[in-house]
Amino acid sequence: MDLQLSRKVVVVTGGGRGHGESMARALAREGASVVVADIDGENGMAVERDIVRQGGTCVAHQVDITQPERVLQMMQAVKDRFGRIDVLINNACAPIRRIPFLEMDVAEWDQVLAVNLRGAFNCSQAAGRIMKEQRSGRMINVSSFAAQLPAAGFAAYSASKAGLEALSKIVAGELGPFGVTAVYVRPGVVETEFTKPNHAGAVGDRMRSAIAMGRFGTTEELAGVICFLASPLAEYINGGPVTVDGGKYVCQF
Ligand SMILES: NC(=O)c1ccc[n+]([C@@H]2O[C@H](COP(=O)([O-])OP(=O)(O)OC[C@H]3O[C@@H](n4cnc5c(N)ncnc54)[C@H](O)[C@@H]3O)[C@@H](O)[C@H]2O)c1
Repeated sequence: MDLQLSRKVVVVTGGGRGHGESMARALAREGASVVVADIDGENGMAVERDIVRQGGTCVAHQVDITQPERVLQMMQAVKDRFGRIDVLINNACAPIRRIPFLEMDVAEWDQVLAVNLRGAFNCSQAAGRIMKEQRSGRMINVSSFAAQLPAAGFAAYSASKAGLEALSKIVAGELGPFGVTAVYVRPGVVETEFTKPNHAGAVGDRMRSAIAMGRFGTTEELAGVICFLASPLAEYINGGPVTVDGGKYVCQF
């Protein structure tokens, strides 16, 4: 099936590794022009080099999405280079650790919210203005099952994802009349650098037992769904959630 992504301009935040990297690679394979926006410039450049070597179109931008001015510069640079922005994928996230909220330092709370929620706001606003002007656009926000069903010890992360889902609905509602849509996705558990420290041993086994398919997902499995959601075929999906979790807590026993 042709996903009609050829030459669509897609910005992926946190595209330097993990889910974002897989999304960037999959989108490039479908013919999209991919912008990898990551605070880690080396990782971003490595993804760019690899995609270009394989014949795809990719540009890496080193950017801290918590900084609105830098985000504005990047979106303008993308528009200058490609003429438009068709899809924004808000995927970047701050590193987290499991800690009871009574012990959490406010600086740690702020850092998680700054990247996961304010960063997505900065990117959505900067790209949203361009999309509204061009009368078309798509935002895909990578949330988490934690927005709906938090695990103890992840207060800031869960709150940031619940906030991201609310932001998605606002974007869908406010920009829908201008041809700009938004959807949020709830991945289940996938082994990436981000999650590895929290999935070891007995905790990981318990998490697996809650998944009907009995295993964690892969970044490629999420990337496939993201490609579909980025395509015109999924245009009428506006809001969310789209759940990609192998049937986590799909039934009691
Ligand atoms: N891996 C999972 O099991 C899982 C489950 C549910 C949801 N998710 C979500 O998927 C998304 C990707 O997760 P991942 O596992 O690939 O994480 P990851 O830590 O491997 O990747 C996150 C990327 O974001 C970048 N980043 C961090 N701060 C940034 C900033 N200020 N500006 C720009 N880039 C920044 C990092 O450099 C990194 O490349 C996240 O939104 C995460 O919450 C992951």
